[in-house]
Amino acid sequence: MDTSSARYTRTAQWLHWGMAALWILSWVLGILATHWREALNPTHGLTILHKALASSLLILIVVRIAWRLTHPVPALPSHMSPLMQRAAHMGHLLLYVVALIALPVSGWYWSSVADKPILLLGLVQLPPLVAPDPDLYGLAKIIHQWTAWFCGALIGGHILVALKHHWVDKDSVLRSMLPKPSSD
Ligand code: HEM
Ligand code: HEM
Repeated sequence: MDTSSARYTRTAQWLHWGMAALWILSWVLGILATHWREALNPTHGLTILHKALASSLLILIVVRIAWRLTHPVPALPSHMSPLMQRAAHMGHLLLYVVALIALPVSGWYWSSVADKPILLLGLVQLPPLVAPDPDLYGLAKIIHQWTAWFCGALIGGHILVALKHHWVDKDSVLRSMLPKPSSD
């Protein structure tokens, strides 16, 4: 059992859990909007909400990366082999690059080629990423959909690994992303 008490900074924790909640909500809204269109999304309300919330990740990721590059993070537990530590770091890099950057950018790209507006948090309209192009609509749609499903699996794996660290390995990995209890 690893009893290390090193944690992510409070700001990193807020950014992680805030963006995780936004991400999961956006993912569920995307699925509901598309696959329950007639029952739940007849006037595209869910699509508009999906785009309004998901696009805020584009701003938050800039803050998060700036914070990540300027603040230390806790070391991984010593019981993890160098290979597993490398795999964990690669997994985090994949989460940043694919789930938090490529996926929202692919949605932005899709709406741009479709000439549809994106109202960030329902307030500010994002400029188009590229000029509208009906010929690219099908490709842009497939890129966003496949990336979304790939990321669903990636996040599912990330959550399972975090729970395994806590319940099976009984190490400090999940605690490092949780606030410090006042008695610590
Ligand atoms: C600027 C950001 C984004 C824009 C503009 C955007 C746009 C869209 C649009 C227009 C749809 C189709 C909805 C419909 O047909 O009614 C969609 C579907 C979807 N989006 Fe996004 N999206 C963005 C970010 C994200 C993010 C960050 C996630 C994941 C958290 C995500 C996950 C999904 C999923 C799962 C679907 C359904 C895919 C399917 O057809 O199975 N999107 N998105
Ligand atoms: C219930 C859901 C989640 C749990 C329990 C969870 C748990 C954790 C834990 C314990 C860590 C600490 C480091 C480690 O894994 O080794 C972490 C890091 C991370 N998580 Fe999550 N997470 C969740 C959801 C998400 C979501 C939805 C995303 C992004 C879309 C995400 C992105 C990340 C990233 C990028 C890191 C690396 C942090 C860094 O070192 O900079 N997580 N997560």
